[in-house]
Amino acid sequence: MNQAGGRVFILRARKAPTSPAFSLDDLARAGHLEIAAHCVANALFISGQIRPAIALHLVLEGAPDPPRTLRLESDTLGSLGGFDERSICQLVQRALGAGRHLKLGEELRVNGGVYVAKRSFEQLVREQSAALPLYHLQPRGEDIRATRFSLPAAFVFSDHLSMPKKADKYLVRLGARPLSVGPRRLFASQCIALVHNELDRQRL
Ligand SMILES: C[S@@+](CC[C@H](N)C(=O)[O-])C[C@H]1O[C@@H](n2cnc3c(N)ncnc32)[C@H](O)[C@@H]1O
Repeated sequence: MNQAGGRVFILRARKAPTSPAFSLDDLARAGHLEIAAHCVANALFISGQIRPAIALHLVLEGAPDPPRTLRLESDTLGSLGGFDERSICQLVQRALGAGRHLKLGEELRVNGGVYVAKRSFEQLVREQSAALPLYHLQPRGEDIRATRFSLPAAFVFSDHLSMPKKADKYLVRLGARPLSVGPRRLFASQCIALVHNELDRQRL
């Protein structure tokens, strides 16, 4: 994976579908996949540009065949056909269709900058923690404004559902540092924007 100098985001979406058989007209019923779509838009794009050196992992853990982990890499990403929820979720559908026969540990390239793997959240964060510092986004973590970062670095967070307690502990064991972007509990996509903003301000 291209992480050179990069910002890595890992979203755990605990009820997001793992088959393409969901309706783009009812994303709320598809485990609130609109949250993942907002994260894609905020992680990869700024006004008029794709951000360089970003990797976003979407760990989908809903029915019928969890897990599936999509990886989007900004440096090689082709057109998504739009930044709206529907276009982004269509991309998720395509990736899930392409990855329906994957066995545990396997990954395939769907198209430019888009990969799908059958890789668990635990395996992913373990691999990442061996290569780069890991930050676990939590409202009670260390204040982002008091934190000096270096890149590459990875930022881990969940969607509308809390991280399971077991995973909280696992992240601590891996050395992940709790990081707060502010006093209010925000949407995951808003956290991404604030992390990007802080790293931009630190000229990273
Ligand atoms: C909508 S919140 C999840 C709400 C969920 N009910 C919970 O209590 O964790 C989505 C994710 O954004 C991150 N988050 C939200 N507010 C944050 C903050 N102020 N600082 C750091 N991370 C935050 C956390 O990782 C959280 O899991």
